Amino acid sequence: MKKLPILIDCDPGHDDAVMLMLAVGSNAFDIKAITTSAGNQTQEKTLKNALRLKALLKTDIPIYKGCEKPLFRELIIADQVHGEMGMDGPVLPEPELTYEPVPAVEAMAKILADSLEKITIVPTGPLTNIATLLLAYPHLKPKIDRISLMGGGAFRGNITPTAEFNIYVDPEAAAVVFNSGVPITMCGLDVTHKALVFQEDIERFRAAGNQCGKVIAELMDFFSIYYRRERPELNGGAALHDPCAIAWLIDPSIFTSKTCHVDVEVMGTLTVGTTVVDFFDVLKKKPNVELVYDIDRERYINLIYESIRRLP
Ligand code: RIB
Ligand code: CA
Repeated sequence: MKKLPILIDCDPGHDDAVMLMLAVGSNAFDIKAITTSAGNQTQEKTLKNALRLKALLKTDIPIYKGCEKPLFRELIIADQVHGEMGMDGPVLPEPELTYEPVPAVEAMAKILADSLEKITIVPTGPLTNIATLLLAYPHLKPKIDRISLMGGGAFRGNITPTAEFNIYVDPEAAAVVFNSGVPITMCGLDVTHKALVFQEDIERFRAAGNQCGKVIAELMDFFSIYYRRERPELNGGAALHDPCAIAWLIDPSIFTSKTCHVDVEVMGTLTVGTTVVDFFDVLKKKPNVELVYDIDRERYINLIYESIRRLP
């Protein structure tokens, strides 16, 4: 099967790490580059974690350093979820690999410009790099087939009552992306809070018998601590947010989605960073998003497990 050309922009991050394992292990993608965003941790730490994962996955995908902070706001991080290193849990050595000398946005632009085919962009962190790309190189929009992102939510938030973390960190960047005219698949909290990993799934990963299985299990052991303490309504499960954005590209039949109009609140006192999802199409605006809101959890976990088994 022809591999889908993609660019991945992420802030590893426990669930970003699982997303990368799915993307690489699925063999479904021609991954042109991995760029790092500041979000779960600082740019310095997410970049280091991306290099650690490159070594673990034994891949030669080039890694590029992204923006240090949001377009206008000070950076907020999610160390309460991901820890001091940003991928706490497993013992992962200091990365010996290095990142590419070209800045991420410039590298993404060159890859898009040089490509003979359209490329899908998969952001799973704040959208600062993607917005900067769209603002600096608007003529390259026709080279982007789709943006399949993890972010937002139709009916809830996780960093405020209405805003999801990736959008909240850089709402102005998110507004640029959602108003860009590029087709968007939005895997928000509506679906990711059903994309749960439970202890029996973690033990299955651990029993895969390879290093990646061991590392993902230890990552999920740590990641689950926050969810079991702060999200008791998830019954012991942890929300595997980021792999949804990749899994939808592999097999959209695992998911339920609908087209609708989405914009981003950048001014609200109580609601800044909220994705304003017109789920019932009350405004009759032109849809700009494929909103993903339900999932076959078993098939999702199986997809991740089968990918892990193919990794080192
Ligand atoms: O709100 C969940 C999102 O924030 C995920 O992408 C997670 O990795 C964090 O970045
Ligand atoms: Ca992320």
